[in-house]
Amino acid sequence: ADKIYVGLLGLGTIGTGVARIIADHQNKITQVVGQEVVIKTVLDRDIEKCQNFFGDTVNCTDNFDDILNDADISVVVELIGYVPAAKEYISKALSAGKHVVSANKDLVALHGKELMGLAKENKCDFLYEAAVAGGVPILRAITESFASDNIKKVMGIVNGTTNFMMTKMDKEGYSYDEALALAQKLGFAEKNPTSDVDGLDAARKMVILARLAFGTNDITLDDVTIAGIRDVSIEDIKLANRLGYKIKLIGTAEKIGDSVNVEVGPVFVPEAHPLASVNNEMNAVYVVGEALGETMFYGAGAGELPTATAVVSDVMNIAKNILLGITGKNFNDYEVETLIATPEQ
Ligand code: HSE
Repeated sequence: ADKIYVGLLGLGTIGTGVARIIADHQNKITQVVGQEVVIKTVLDRDIEKCQNFFGDTVNCTDNFDDILNDADISVVVELIGYVPAAKEYISKALSAGKHVVSANKDLVALHGKELMGLAKENKCDFLYEAAVAGGVPILRAITESFASDNIKKVMGIVNGTTNFMMTKMDKEGYSYDEALALAQKLGFAEKNPTSDVDGLDAARKMVILARLAFGTNDITLDDVTIAGIRDVSIEDIKLANRLGYKIKLIGTAEKIGDSVNVEVGPVFVPEAHPLASVNNEMNAVYVVGEALGETMFYGAGAGELPTATAVVSDVMNIAKNILLGITGKNFNDYEVETLIATPEQ
C-alpha cells in the first residue's frame, strides 16, 4: 500500500485524540515515517457520532469484521477499554497478521504475556506505551534507554486521580469526598473510581513496569501488595507535613536478591525527594539504575492529547518497522532478555 492504514477501535476521549493528532500532525508524521498514516475505519457502537466527527473521511462501523477482513489495514488501535472485548479483537487482529497498539493497562497487566506470544507467533508488533503513565514515555525509556544498565528500583506516582485528591487535601483542605467528586468531574477518575482509590489501577501499571524493568513474565497482580488511599485522613497529611514529609500513593518495584518485590500504598515521602513535589493529576516515574543512578520521568498521566500522543507514536514506530520489514521484534517484549537486564546480572 502507498499509505499505512489504521483501524481504530473506540471513539472515546483517547480515540478522538488519536484522530486529532493524526490529522493535525500529519506533516511531521509523514516526514518521520516516510509514508502517510491514515485512519481508514473506525469501530464504535455510536455510528452517528463517528460520522459527525469524521464526515466521510473514514468508514464508520459497528462490526469488527470490517476492520479484520480489510487487507489494507495493517495497524489496529484498540481504545475500547472493556477487557473481554478488547482481548477478543486484539487476538483476532494479531492472528490475522495485523499489528496492534493499545492503551489498555488492565488488558496488558492481565493478558500481556499471552497477547505478546500471539504477536511474536505472527511476526507482529504489539505496543502499549500509553498504558502506563499516559503521555510519559516510560516503557520505551526503561527498556531501551536503560538497556545497558541493571535497574534496581522503580518508584511511581502512576495514578493521577489519587495524586490530585491528595494534593487538594494537602494544599486546599478538601475532604476526601470533595476531592474525589472533583477528580471525577474533571474526568481523571476511572468509570469506577474504586480502582483508583483502592490502588488497583496503580498496581496494574506497576505490574507492567516491573515486568519490563526486570525482564520477567513472572509478575502478576497477585504478587502485588496493594493499599489505597481510603484511610488517609487530613490529620495524617498534616502530621506528615509537620515531620517534613508528603504522603503520596507510591508504586514500588524493587529487586531484592533474586526476587522482585512490587507494592502500592500510601508512603511518607521526604519533602526533598523529587517525587514529593509531583502534584495535582501529574504522574512521575523514578528509576534507579546501577550505573545510571537516579532518573525521573514526569508528565501527564492521562488526558486526551497526551495519551493520544503516545498511541500515535507507537503507530508510527510500527509503520517504520513495516516499511523496514522488521516487525515482530517488540522492544516491550519482556521475554526478550537480550534487550533488558536479566535478574542474574
Ligand atoms: N484513572 C487513571 C488515573 C487514568 O487517574 O491515573 C489514567 O490511567
